[in-house]
Parts: sequence; structure tokens; C-alpha cells
Amino acid sequence: MSALKLALVIGSVREGRFGPVVADWFAQRVDDRFDVDVIDLADFELPAELPAVPPLLDPDPVRPAGMVEFTERLAAADAYVIVTPEYNRSYPAALKSAIDWHFTQWDAKAIGFVGYSGGSGGLLAIEHLRQVFNELNAHTVRNYVSFPRYYRLFDENGALLEPQEFEADAEAMLDQMHWWASALRAGRLAQALV
Ligand SMILES: Cc1cc2nc3c(=O)[nH]c(=O)nc-3n(C[C@H](O)[C@H](O)[C@H](O)COP(=O)(O)O)c2cc1C
Repeated sequence: MSALKLALVIGSVREGRFGPVVADWFAQRVDDRFDVDVIDLADFELPAELPAVPPLLDPDPVRPAGMVEFTERLAAADAYVIVTPEYNRSYPAALKSAIDWHFTQWDAKAIGFVGYSGGSGGLLAIEHLRQVFNELNAHTVRNYVSFPRYYRLFDENGALLEPQEFEADAEAMLDQMHWWASALRAGRLAQALV
């Protein structure tokens, strides 16, 4: 079976963000069951103003020129890992825009989460994202990676001081993602054949 395409989405866009450090760490954990595409939301145009027509009525609206490549890369993925911080007990607004501008791209795909923040380790953001992805008929896997008070966990080079527990969490999540993404890819292919 060919490798699954895994889009690793960096969900924060603010200046001075920590998200790329977490994404780099996770990208190094991914094994050859997946081909990884790191997608940084900061590289794309993701306006908060959404299309005039809801996605059920127009699933493929005209998108801003600065979003087109983002949409293509999302569509190509079999699975996604969302790297999210927590802002006021939820996830960043740019990530919500990126999600809401898309519809079929998420359909019947597997999704995992890597969260980081203060004491909650991004878990409140992750739980909000699960609700959103339910509406998009995506499957969010049970396991996750969480970095509570991440600023105590990484050194100045972006390496974890005590990596074992987090590496085990990443591996467990990737195992679940592989199972679900394989099953869902087979299901999508079968559906396309009938
Ligand atoms: C607007 C804002 C709200 C935040 N709210 C929370 C929060 O509710 N819970 C928490 O644990 N950390 C919170 N934080 C801390 C962030 O999780 C932390 O600053 C993290 O570095 C943000 O990710 P980023 O650097 O990739 O943007 C907040 C940070 C910002 C900027």
C-alpha cells in the first residue's frame, strides 16, 4: 500500500509564535507510513469573511488567489495533524477561517491533534476542534499529544528536555491515524468506484 499523505497544519500565525517548533518536532516523529506536507497557515490568505453561499449549497466557492495552493494541498491529504495553541480556551481564529473556507477537503479524512499552551496544554482547543470536525464528517482520533506549559519542556534549540513520554504519545496517535486514514482512504476509493 502506498504511503498515506499527511498534512501537518501549523495553526497559529502570530509574530513570535511557538507553533513551528512544535510542528518541526512532530514532523520528525512521523515514520515512512506517511508522506508529510507541512502547511503553515501564515503562508496563505485566509480571510475571516467567508463566501456568500454556505458550503452545503456551494462546496467549491471561488477562493482568494492566495488560498488556492492551500486548498489544493488540503485536498491532496488523506489525513491531517493540526498543531494548535490555545487562545482563550479555544483555537486560533486563523485556523477557524482555514477550516470554514473548506468542506469536501475534510470529508471522510482522519484528523489528529498536537496541542500546546499554558496549563491546559491545548486540550480545550483540541476539544473545540473535535466538535467542528464532526460537522465536516472528519474522524478525529482518540489519542493526541499535549504540551502543558510547553515553555518548560523545550530547550532553546527546540528539543524536548524529556522526550520519551511525548514520543510515545506521538507514536500512539500516529498508529491510530494510520488505521483510520487507511480505512477511510479505502472507503473513499470504493465509493468513487460505484
Ligand atoms: C490571545 C491569547 C490567549 C491565550 N489563552 C490561553 C488559554 O486560554 N489557555 C492557555 O493555556 N494558554 C493561553 N494562551 C497562551 C498560549 O497558548 C501561548 O502563548 C502559546 O505560545 C500560543 O501559541 P503560539 O505561540 O504558537 O501563538 C493564550 C495566548 C494568547 C496570545
